[in-house]
Amino acid sequence: MKVYIPKEDSLYEPRIAMVPQTVEKLKQLNADIYVDKGLGKHLDISDDAFTKAGAMVVETANALKQSPDMVLRVMAYEDNVLANLKPKAIHISFLNPYKHPQIVATMQQRHISAFSMELIPRISRAQAADALTSQSNLAGYYAVILAAQRLNKVFPMMSTAAGTIAPANVFVIGVGVAGLQAIATAKRLGARVFAFDTRPEVEEQVKSLGARFVKASLGKVAANAEGYAEALTDEQIALQRQAMLKACNQADVIITTALVLGKKAPLIITDDMLKTIRPGSLIIDLAAEAGGNVEGVKIEEEVVKYGVRILGLTRTAGCVAKDASELYANNLYHLISLVCDNDLKQFTIDHSNEIISRTLLTHAGQRFNNG
Ligand code: NAI
Repeated sequence: MKVYIPKEDSLYEPRIAMVPQTVEKLKQLNADIYVDKGLGKHLDISDDAFTKAGAMVVETANALKQSPDMVLRVMAYEDNVLANLKPKAIHISFLNPYKHPQIVATMQQRHISAFSMELIPRISRAQAADALTSQSNLAGYYAVILAAQRLNKVFPMMSTAAGTIAPANVFVIGVGVAGLQAIATAKRLGARVFAFDTRPEVEEQVKSLGARFVKASLGKVAANAEGYAEALTDEQIALQRQAMLKACNQADVIITTALVLGKKAPLIITDDMLKTIRPGSLIIDLAAEAGGNVEGVKIEEEVVKYGVRILGLTRTAGCVAKDASELYANNLYHLISLVCDNDLKQFTIDHSNEIISRTLLTHAGQRFNNG
């Protein structure tokens, strides 16, 4: 099978879908691998490294002349590559079908078999292919590093001859994959960390990282079998805001990561609450793309309200693109090896395979999974 990895627009998407180490592994599944010239240049990964790993480094036009059977990317684009893929070709990437319905429609019209990495099921067999998890973990790390750099005070306590500096207070709201990594990173930097999540089982995880759990009596809060939280009622959200007020008021940094699958992100920090937060504090909202946890947040912009700086981050994993690419390429490799039983010659679109049926958005001119 011919597998092609085209270049992405590195200013918009610095991550890449293949790294030399993964080329070697993918070749063992019987893949002929074509990568665009300069694919990893901006990440200091040379064409030579790809060639040594066994890939063919080509110009886009030459790769397309080979009629690739499979295209691997981080994102999907309405571009020359998509326009020239043969019908039945497989396209695997993040697709963000709710945000980019037109690309999905094009894939359907062109009879492309499009897989969406956001939809990898959270079953233990597919864990190594779970790209949302691998990228969220890096997002949690990066949010804290950025906060430490932007804050006008240090994170750790420092006792010096000139006086003692108190540690920064960091409040993490939403303790999923990104939130847990944010807590761990802030702790490593010496901050005093508080955290809150609506799923009660999170309390133990927070404590095991040495952070304090902010308690709120919200009544029954459900999570589905795959660990995703259910939305709170309006009354529960009001109780949550009340319970979090003290932690918000003490915080130098607040990192919000709260998401509810398939819904707009819950609005947790209202304008009224912002008025009570100490001026100079910094809020990093990692849920900005899903509507934001903070009132007034703007994507990739810093908004200042009542002296509080609010940053809405979206492309966070791309800020540590080399590691993000390595993990993502591995996620792709694991997905492919799982669905083709370790031999790409055996690959068929088998709808009875749960990983295929839940990840496939378009195939043979049809749509699946509401794509
Ligand atoms: P997510 O990205 O959907 O949401 C982030 C966090 O926001 C979650 O912890 C959620 O409970 C929380 N949240 C929702 N509404 C909130 C509110 N009003 N206030 C505060 N927090 C709120 O979740 P993510 O990061 O994908 O992980 C959720 C769980 O799933 C975690 O326990 C994680 O360990 C588990 N998981 C399991 C996987 C597997 O079995 N393969 C893979 C990835 C995660």
